[in-house]
Amino acid sequence: MRRPVIAANWKMFKTQAETRSFFNRFRSLASSLRHCDLIIAPAFTALAAAVEAARGSEILISAQDLYWEKEGAWTGEVSAGMIAEVGCRFTLVGHSERRHVFGETDDQIHRKLRAALAAGLAPIVCVGETLSEREANQTEDVLRRQFNSSLTGLTAPEFSRILLAYEPVWAIGTGRTATPDLAAAAHGLLRELASHAYSSASSQNLRILYGGSVKPENSAALLAEEEIDGALVGGASLDPVAFAAIAKSAPGGPLEQNRSV
Ligand code: PGA
Repeated sequence: MRRPVIAANWKMFKTQAETRSFFNRFRSLASSLRHCDLIIAPAFTALAAAVEAARGSEILISAQDLYWEKEGAWTGEVSAGMIAEVGCRFTLVGHSERRHVFGETDDQIHRKLRAALAAGLAPIVCVGETLSEREANQTEDVLRRQFNSSLTGLTAPEFSRILLAYEPVWAIGTGRTATPDLAAAAHGLLRELASHAYSSASSQNLRILYGGSVKPENSAALLAEEEIDGALVGGASLDPVAFAAIAKSAPGGPLEQNRSV
């Protein structure tokens, strides 16, 4: 079984002070969550505070985005090296808000992915279709295009550092969650693409997170799917108790252990 990953995407929420207060509460809750990897992605301005607040725990810190150049006249941008230096181990790449609100292209996402890998960060690459693409039966084509263009040409060791997140755009921040079987089918397709592009072994080791209105009320059913290796949580991750409850519901966690006694 692949080890579950429960990741928080805080988007443009939480100051440094709010980040510290989240960790004050979350660290004690996280001590019973050894069955999964816990990743938190605060805004750039709170990364250092989060790294400091997570020190000595198993909680890992991620950026939400990066720029692919190392340094230079790129006003407003932050490089992979800068993110790594703060103490982050991960970065999101190609989140749907970056693609659809800020117009990021597959090519830009590929460059970001390469820059992240070169700086020693593990990229969490987000893919997913819009509602109109799903309604037009284009989900497979969209996932294939996004996978093939952003995840092309990596070595096997590079590919092994990637986490993938399937986030149907119509489910993000809308309260509409994909059903577990619909999400599992998309994950299965992504795993097949990984097997074609790399190898069966790499695809079996690849962890694919589901994202889109994940909450404590729906996380257990989603995470029970064999194809779903974790969750990328937006809104519900802002509350330490709700985020811990989602992590708790992952296979191998305290909820499952209680059920089996
Ligand atoms: P949501 O966001 O959980 O608020 O839908 C998920 C995401 O955007 O990563």
